[in-house]
Amino acid sequence: MKKKKVSIIGAGHVGASTAQLLALYGISDVVLFDIVEGMPQGKALDLSEACPLWNSSSSVIGTNDYADTAGSDIIVVTAGIARKPGMSRDDLLKTNADVVSAIGLGIAKGSPDAVIIAVTNPMDVMAHLLFKTTGFPHHRVMGMGGVLDAARFSTFVAWELKVSPGAVNSVILGGHGDQMVPMPRFTTVNGVPITELISEDRIKALVERTRNGGAEIVSLLKTGSAYYAPAASTIAMVKAILFDEKRPLPAACYLSGQYGVDGLYVGVPAILGAGGVEKIIELKLNEKEREAFAKSTAAVAGLVKIINL
Ligand code: APR
Repeated sequence: MKKKKVSIIGAGHVGASTAQLLALYGISDVVLFDIVEGMPQGKALDLSEACPLWNSSSSVIGTNDYADTAGSDIIVVTAGIARKPGMSRDDLLKTNADVVSAIGLGIAKGSPDAVIIAVTNPMDVMAHLLFKTTGFPHHRVMGMGGVLDAARFSTFVAWELKVSPGAVNSVILGGHGDQMVPMPRFTTVNGVPITELISEDRIKALVERTRNGGAEIVSLLKTGSAYYAPAASTIAMVKAILFDEKRPLPAACYLSGQYGVDGLYVGVPAILGAGGVEKIIELKLNEKEREAFAKSTAAVAGLVKIINL
């Protein structure tokens, strides 16, 4: 069977880490694209030379030419600038909107059947932009943030309860911004909601830390933003799609009436498979959750309006 092809646009921290995991696990062939000349080629050569040690038969190439991304099954968009200390994801909006619009136009023609995963921040808006500029159906364009936010929440819950992080199943709704909505009622450890296991005050603290999860890392790194967990989150989505896993994952999806939202990308639980977003899962929210979700959705809608989508 021919290997699947995953192209990664932006060969920086997140892009290169994603490429590394794809090659290490032998998930697919990999194309690393960047505007900087030589850099994606150098990183691809380095990764290729690691493949014998990983017993991986993935081919990894680096390029500055969109033609090399043609025929991709999945395209992951990580290009843009990363956050600096004190900068919100939303400050990145205008700069990254220009970059991502150009990319949408660059990738669409050569890979008309691809599924696109937006990673560049502000991620919900960039997903919307890629949906518009590629002209692809909305179920084949999605954003990554929810998987990362959920992984962060799971980490903090696992530390709190001193259990294995893999036993925690977190649910997060809303935009991948400071207004994201972690959902303790639906977050479980081996099926038991954390509201039964952790006090309200402590849950509040864990939710707050999750909301600031990206900023906490930015303030420690000082010169960039997180990339290991973002890359791992992207891989979870890539695998769900390439292997048609029908896996429920929180993703930024285009809503057309679900949760009372129409025509906007926001984070919701969805079933991911070969068709991309195959189904959106609608949870029954209580009053407080509905309010928080509406606030988060309004924040995303505000950004979308700024760039006239
Ligand atoms: N086309 C392709 N690549 C581009 C373009 C473009 N038009 N513009 C910038 N790039 C590349 C840069 O050359 C750089 O290699 O995007 C890469 C971004 O890499 P980093 O600066 O290392 O940023 P990274 O940490 O990977 O974050 C990328 O993901 O998580 C988000 O907030 C983060 O928006 C940021 C994105």
